[in-house]
Amino acid sequence: MKVLVVGSGGREHALSWKIGSSPLVDEVFCAPGNGGIAADAICVDIPAEDIASLKKFAKDNAIELTVVGPEAPLVAGIVDAFQAEGLPVFGPVRRGAMLEGSKIFSKELMEKACIPTAACGVFTDAEEARAYARKAPFPTVVKADGLAAGKGVIVTGCADEACTAIDEILVRKAFGSAGASIVVEERLVGEEASFIAICDGEHIVPLASSQDHKPAFDGDEGPNTGGMGACSPAPVLSGDAYGRVLDTILYPLVGALKKQGITYRGVLYAGLMITDRGPYVLEFNARMGDPETQPLLMRLKSDLVPVLYEVAKGGSIKGMELAWENGPSVCVVMASGGYPGPYEKGRVITGLADAGRVEGVKVFHAGTRLQDDRVVTSGGRVLGVTAQAPDLEAAMGRAYRAAGLISFEGAHYRKDIGHKALRRLS
Ligand code: AMP
Ligand code: GLY
Repeated sequence: MKVLVVGSGGREHALSWKIGSSPLVDEVFCAPGNGGIAADAICVDIPAEDIASLKKFAKDNAIELTVVGPEAPLVAGIVDAFQAEGLPVFGPVRRGAMLEGSKIFSKELMEKACIPTAACGVFTDAEEARAYARKAPFPTVVKADGLAAGKGVIVTGCADEACTAIDEILVRKAFGSAGASIVVEERLVGEEASFIAICDGEHIVPLASSQDHKPAFDGDEGPNTGGMGACSPAPVLSGDAYGRVLDTILYPLVGALKKQGITYRGVLYAGLMITDRGPYVLEFNARMGDPETQPLLMRLKSDLVPVLYEVAKGGSIKGMELAWENGPSVCVVMASGGYPGPYEKGRVITGLADAGRVEGVKVFHAGTRLQDDRVVTSGGRVLGVTAQAPDLEAAMGRAYRAAGLISFEGAHYRKDIGHKALRRLS
């Protein structure tokens, strides 16, 4: 079959690569793709948000499966548009993607389903929000309701900081209409992990656990980013905790969505805080994590396409299972100088071929493009150097050996991806 992957980041590179390895697949297209995806798929110059053109491309080229990577087109209704034309597409409909598109929708749903999550208040009025933050017996986190390119969450240490954050979003409108309403919630303490699963509206096929590293610098210091690296599995979700997430979070969520009349078919991603009281939900996403997808798909032994296709055509995934390599995987994100702040583009990248020859390594491209016959940077997160090995230390060793072979002006990356997992194992 012919498959179209929508998106242009490291996650979409990993998806294109994995889908292309399926014996069921003849051709993979990626729209718009990037400089590295071009080696694993045919890149099509259509932006991920241009739903009308994507639909036309899928129809004209007899695409049998479209897999949507990022959240923006999901929230904009790409799945509804494809379904209206009878085109098989993997991802939730617009109302389902509200799980990610509106933090208030997601908090209300969690409350209805008794899913463990931080206590919160919802506000449009700054004075009321400030009063809540001042009275709260805990430090708070202030969140814009809508999509704010991963920047709409402000973690605060005291009521004064919370009030500043509230004013930033509700009064100074730092995130525009995405911040017309806010959630002010309890700041939870624990270790973060990601739980990603595929859902057919009723049944769930969970992926292995994973862990992102969001702050820019080693030791979880510095500003928040889209994710500076990830590993799988996440030891903090071993044994009991993994099953608890399914029983106390994901199945109740699917039930609550159904009660709202939403048959949720696509990826359910729970961003979790593992607290003393068990796993709590920080947020839900309606798509796979980036960079978690890169190490996850490196470890995935099974063909992913049958599960995606079944969901896309409205079938059942009951009883389907995914098999994983026992050995862990690690993804180290190499970023442009300045990221997550302003950064320059167009820097020539060298050493990619050598890095790709390190045993167990695949270099996924996130923000690159081809210029003549060179690969140059074109985004904040540039590469996801990903490695799999029989044990975590070896996987980290391989990923860092490969990253050390790559250079571009201004490149920076964290040197401690996987350390938290390693500490927990020892
Ligand atoms: P989100 O975009 O909701 O995942 O939030 C971004 C980051 O903010 C998360 O990865 C956490 O590090 C942090 N965060 C969000 N909500 C909370 C919370 N209730 N308590 C502590 N940290 C949080
Ligand atoms: N890795 C965090 C995210 O994809 O939202």
